[in-house]
Amino acid sequence: MASQITPVQVKKIACIGAGYVGGPTCSMIAHKCPHIQVTIVDVNADRINAWNSDTLPIYEPGLEEIVKACRGKNLFFDTDIDKAIVEADLIFVSVNTPTKKSGVGAGYAADLFYVELCTRRIASVATSSKIVVEKSTVPCRTAQSMRTILEANSRPGLRFDILSNPEFLAEGTAINDLAHPDRVLIGSLGTPEGRAAQASLVDVYANWVPREKCITTGLWSSELTKLAANAILAQRISSINALSAICEVTGADVDEVAYACGLDSRIGPKFLKSSVGFGGSCFQKDILNLVYLSESLHLPEVADYWRQVITMNEYQKRRFAQTVVSSMFNTITNKKLAVLGFAFKKDTGDTRETPSATVCRFFRQESAKISVYDPKVPEKQIFLDLTEPGVVDDSEQVKKQVTVCKSAMEACTGAEGICVLTEWDEFKTLDWSAIYASMAKPAMVFDGRGILDADKLREIGFKVFSIGKGVNL
Ligand code: UDX
Ligand code: ADP
Repeated sequence: MASQITPVQVKKIACIGAGYVGGPTCSMIAHKCPHIQVTIVDVNADRINAWNSDTLPIYEPGLEEIVKACRGKNLFFDTDIDKAIVEADLIFVSVNTPTKKSGVGAGYAADLFYVELCTRRIASVATSSKIVVEKSTVPCRTAQSMRTILEANSRPGLRFDILSNPEFLAEGTAINDLAHPDRVLIGSLGTPEGRAAQASLVDVYANWVPREKCITTGLWSSELTKLAANAILAQRISSINALSAICEVTGADVDEVAYACGLDSRIGPKFLKSSVGFGGSCFQKDILNLVYLSESLHLPEVADYWRQVITMNEYQKRRFAQTVVSSMFNTITNKKLAVLGFAFKKDTGDTRETPSATVCRFFRQESAKISVYDPKVPEKQIFLDLTEPGVVDDSEQVKKQVTVCKSAMEACTGAEGICVLTEWDEFKTLDWSAIYASMAKPAMVFDGRGILDADKLREIGFKVFSIGKGVNL
């Protein structure tokens, strides 16, 4: 065909943004493609230094091995963003896109400030044509804006082909998700140049992902799919959490209901685990994004539909905290409560939108004494998350009410109640008899993740509440 263009063979990749998405994704590309040089850059020099040190800036099982095997060979971490842009054939844009805090769309829309800054940088320093890949989660049609910026600000004669290649990895399992993805999605403008760029990126992934799993679509479908996939996953959790409230009143068991529903192959078993609520950097942000998009498109019913997924999540966190208070004779003032787990899920030190922070804030308002233990979240981060921004002296007040402990045992000693808020495996095998012996009585456990053996704990003497299991404290 006359209009077919030979795809560029990618030899050098730059990744702008060394965070949870860019870091693991491009480390995996370096690991699987020894013939490609991958340079990950960031404006944050501390973060880059950490990537170059023995203590990586993010905890992710299996990541350290990959980074150590490739670093200095075909994987580099650097602050020289311009050099990486100039040298690369293909650039991943993996910068953060937080929810806007002010202005139009505040609280809903994604802030594209960093994406725009980074796109302008690419335009001003590039001396050759590039494939630019949006990896950050962005609102639909961002690729179009990136393209306009690039075309308006670059040297004459250069081509920029924009692709959308959303990331579906989940924290804690990122390395496995990257090594064995269900699918890789690559969106492009349907032009011959766009298709050629798409083929170049497929060739990179094809080094380890079967080609039939590399799905190629239009740009807008790809951008919308990222929001849609996260919204649908979060919706399943809110659905089962809504049912957990019914279970608690009727005596049905939410795990039995989820199991029986999940056996229907049309439904499937995943993402039906009832919990204290979902957290993480994506679900809430992406749904808010979808709500904003729906409203901008004058589709208020659609916006309301998705907004309800978040409303249910807020309700679930509040409901859990209220159950703790009502079970503890309607007051937790000055009572010691142990909080086991602060990360938004196990096997990560990430606390973004963690339900644990919401529940702890509620306990603070009720004047409880809180002792928190998490195997991976640093003390500094816990205090940061629990301090209300802009409230003078709040950090002093947090320190009076909250203690961060080095072990679960330390957190639980002398407590009147224990709340399990992250599903860390180590909580299942704690010496619960020793914990019971150390606690004020009646000793209560509130399992917000459904991971403990409630019958065994009751045998020891605990009063146990598990999400969706009927309140029989
Ligand atoms: C999610 C998506 O899974 C991933 O594809 C996307 O790229 C980014 O967002 P992540 O936020 O890392 O990944 O974690 P995920 O495993 O999806 O969990 C999100 C939250 O839902 C966690 O707080 C988790 O504890 C909670 N969850 C998950 C439940 O409460 N019940 C479940 O059944 C599953
Ligand atoms: P994500 O979870 O999406 O990866 P993170 O916040 O973990 O988000 O990572 C995004 C990274 O992008 C941060 O380390 C931030 O410093 C970096 N970053 C943001 N803007 C730029 C920019 N213009 N140039 C280079 N790096 C940037």
